[in-house]
Amino acid sequence: MSRVGIFGAGWVGLVTGACFAELGHDVVVRDVVAEKVGALEAGRIPIHEPGLPELIEKNRERLGFTADAAEAAQDAEFLYVCVGTPSTYSGDADLSAVWSVLDDLPPLDGRPILVMKSTVPVGTGDKVRAALDARELDHVGYVANPEFLAEGTAVRDFMNADRVVIGAYEPEDGDRVEALHETLGAPVVRSDVASAEMIKLAANAFLATRISFINEIANVCELVGADVEEVARGVGLDHRLGPHFLRAGIGFGGSCFPKDASALKQLASNSGYHFQLLSAVIEVNELQKRRVIAKLQKHLGKLRDKRIALLGLSFKPNTDDMREAPSIVLASRLLAEGAEVRGWDPVASPGELMKGVAICESVLEAVRDADAAVIVTEWDELRDLPSPEVRDAMRNPLIVDGRNLLDPEVVEQLGFAYEGIGRVSSPFSGLPETPEPEQKPA
Ligand code: UDX
Repeated sequence: MSRVGIFGAGWVGLVTGACFAELGHDVVVRDVVAEKVGALEAGRIPIHEPGLPELIEKNRERLGFTADAAEAAQDAEFLYVCVGTPSTYSGDADLSAVWSVLDDLPPLDGRPILVMKSTVPVGTGDKVRAALDARELDHVGYVANPEFLAEGTAVRDFMNADRVVIGAYEPEDGDRVEALHETLGAPVVRSDVASAEMIKLAANAFLATRISFINEIANVCELVGADVEEVARGVGLDHRLGPHFLRAGIGFGGSCFPKDASALKQLASNSGYHFQLLSAVIEVNELQKRRVIAKLQKHLGKLRDKRIALLGLSFKPNTDDMREAPSIVLASRLLAEGAEVRGWDPVASPGELMKGVAICESVLEAVRDADAAVIVTEWDELRDLPSPEVRDAMRNPLIVDGRNLLDPEVVEQLGFAYEGIGRVSSPFSGLPETPEPEQKPA
C-alpha cells in the first residue's frame, strides 16, 4: 500500500484516484476549485462516468479530497499530475496548470516521484525535470505514466489496462511506479520519458487516423454502391488490423483526439517536420461533420425554413461531454443555412454551445413537424427511432443516420427515407412541401 497525491480532480484525476484506492492505496485528490472539493467530500461526483460514484463511495476510507496542495503531498510517495492541458489557438498544448502544480508543491522530504498523467507534448518531461532542479527539488523523481482511458468506460479501462506505460529518467523511479500498478497484472512498457510521451500522442493520433480512413472509405462506398459496414467487417477480420475504431460516422470529437492530433501536428511542425498524414486526418474529420448538410439538401433542397432535429449531442454515447462534439459544428452549419434546428440528448446540456438551437426534453418533441431527423450520437435509445409514432409526427419522414445505428431496410419498411454513412441510401423522392412560413401577427 502506497500513499498517492493526485493533483487535479477532473475526469483523469478522479478516475485515477478512485482506481488507485480500489487497488488498496491511500489517495488524496487535490483540486484548486474549492466548490468541487466540497461537492466531492459531500459525495457529489461532478462528472458523468459510469461506475465512478460507486467506486469512490466503496473506497471512501482510503480516498480524501482537499484544496490544500500540502495536504495532498504530505507523506506522498507519488505526486500524480492530472490537470487539463487544453489546446491553445496555435494548436500547442497549454501547460499552465502543470506549472501551477509545481508552484504549489510544498517542501518535500525523501524521494517522492512526480508522475505525469496529463497528456503533454514530447519534451515536457525535460522541462519539468529542469524546473524541479531549479526549485532545488532535484531529490524529487520524475516519471511519465500516460493514461489511455476512454470516456464512458474509464474505470474498466484503468482496471483492465491493455498496458501501463512508464517512462523514467531513473530506473528505480520507474520500478516504484511499476510496483504501484502491480495488482493490475497488465503488460508494462518501460521506456525513456520522451518515448512514453510520444506513445500517448501516437496512440490517439493513430486511432483518429483509423476513423478518418474508414470515413473516407465510406465516402467512396457511397459513390460506388458499396456498404462500409460490410467493408469494415471484412477489413477488421484481418488479425493485422482488427475491428476496433472502424466505425464510419460523422467524425470524431471529444477532449482527446482533436486536441492530441493537433498537438502532435504542431509538435512536428515546431520541430521542422510537416506531418502530412495527420493534417489530412484532421481535415477529413472537419469535412466529415459537414457532409450531413449535402445529404439533407439531396432530399430537402434548400434548408432555409426547414426544421431539422439533431438527435444525440454529446461527442459520444454514455457521456455528457460536449467537448469538440460534431453536433456543435452541424448545428451552426444548419443555422447558417437558415434552417430551424432542434436538439435532443439524454444527459448532455449544450447551453451556450448551441445558441439558436431549441433543446427538447424528448425525441418526439424534437422530431415534431421536422423535415428530417439526424442521428448525431448513437445513444441506445435511438435504436427505437423508426416508429409509426415518429413517422406520423414528422412533416417529412427522413432519417439521416450519422452513426449507421439503424438497419436501412427496417427504416424504409416503416415508411422513412434513409441516408446512412457509406451505405446504400433511399433514392431522392422529390422535394417535400415547404410549409408557408408562419404569418407574423401584423
Ligand atoms: C479516447 C481514447 O479512446 C482513449 O484511449 C484516450 O485516453 C482518450 O481519447 P474518448 O475521447 O473518451 O477516448 O472517446 P473514444 O471512445 O475513443 O471516441 C472518440 C471519438 O471517436 C468519438 O467522437 C467517437 O464517436 C469517435 N469514433 C470512435 C468514431 O467515429 N468511430 C470509431 O470507430 C470509434
